[in-house]
Amino acid sequence: MPTLEELNKLYATDSINFQVGEGGLPKCTITHPNATAEFYLNGGHMTHFQPTEHQPVLWMSSESKFEAGKPIRGGIPICWPWFGQAVEENRPQHGFARNINWTVVQTQETFDFVTIELKIESNAETKSIWPHSFELKLRFEIGKKLSIELETRNTGAASFRIGTAIHSYFNVTDASNIELSGLDQVDYIDQLDNNLPKQQQGEIKIREEIDRVYIESGHQVSIVDRTMNRVIKIKKSGSQSTVVWNPWISKANRMADFPDDGYRTMVCVETANAFTDVREIAPDEQHVIMQKISVA
Ligand code: BG6
Repeated sequence: MPTLEELNKLYATDSINFQVGEGGLPKCTITHPNATAEFYLNGGHMTHFQPTEHQPVLWMSSESKFEAGKPIRGGIPICWPWFGQAVEENRPQHGFARNINWTVVQTQETFDFVTIELKIESNAETKSIWPHSFELKLRFEIGKKLSIELETRNTGAASFRIGTAIHSYFNVTDASNIELSGLDQVDYIDQLDNNLPKQQQGEIKIREEIDRVYIESGHQVSIVDRTMNRVIKIKKSGSQSTVVWNPWISKANRMADFPDDGYRTMVCVETANAFTDVREIAPDEQHVIMQKISVA
C-alpha cells in the first residue's frame, strides 16, 4: 500500500488531500468550494459529504470502529458481491468490498467538482472468499451533488452473479418525522416478516424497525425532512431495487458500533441489486450501478 506521502504526490490537488484518519487508517479529505467530503481507502467508504451552505448529508455512527479489514458504521459502505447474508458459511454479511483496502486510480479537479476513481481486483485473498476474477471500480464525483458509480467487470472465463448495495446512511433531524416518497404502489420484500411480499401504500413513515427491499423500483426516492427544511433526492441507474432500513430501538441496542439513540437521526436508503435484481455478468462484460444524491 502506498504511503500518504506517495498518495499525495500522485493524487493530491488543491481540494484533495490524503491524511491519517480515525484508527490510523488513511483517509482522503475533499475541501472544494462546492462541497466538503471524506472517504477511507478501507472499504472505499465515504464518511462525509456536505454541499456548501447545507448540513452534512450522511449519518456517521459515533461508535464506529475504524479497523483495517472491518466495515465502518455509517456513511456509505459498498456491499458487494452479495447483499445481506451469504448463503455459504464463513462469508461476511454484505460481501467483502467494504472490508478491504481500495487503490486510488486517478483524481481530477474542475471548477464544479472533483472526481476520484478507486478500484479493487480479484487476488488470492478475494478468491479464497469468492472464487471469481473481477475488477471493481468506484467513482466519486463530489460537487453540489454526490454521484457514486460502481462498475463490475468480469475478467474471468465464467459468468458470475452479483448483489450490490450503495448502502447510504442519511442524516435526518428525527426519523419518526420524515417521509420517504417515490415508492408508492411499489412491491417490497419485508425482511422483518419472513421476506413476505407486500405493497407500499403512500409515503413511507418510520415509527418502528423497518427493513425492506423494494423491487422494480428504479425511480427517484426523496427524503423529506421538514424540520431541517431539506429534501434529499436520490436518483439512480443500473438498479431496480431499493433498500430502506432503520434498526430502531432494540436492534440499535444490539449493535456494538451503533449508539443506542442513533436510530433517531438516520435512515438508510440503499441503491441496490438485491433479491430478484441480482445481476449475471458474462466474461468480459460489465455492469454499472449509479446513485446521485442532491439536496434542496
Ligand atoms: C441493511 C439490511 O441493508 O443493512 C439490514 O437490510 C442490516 O438487514 C443492515 O441489518 C446493516 O447491516 P450490517 O451488516 O452493516 O450490520
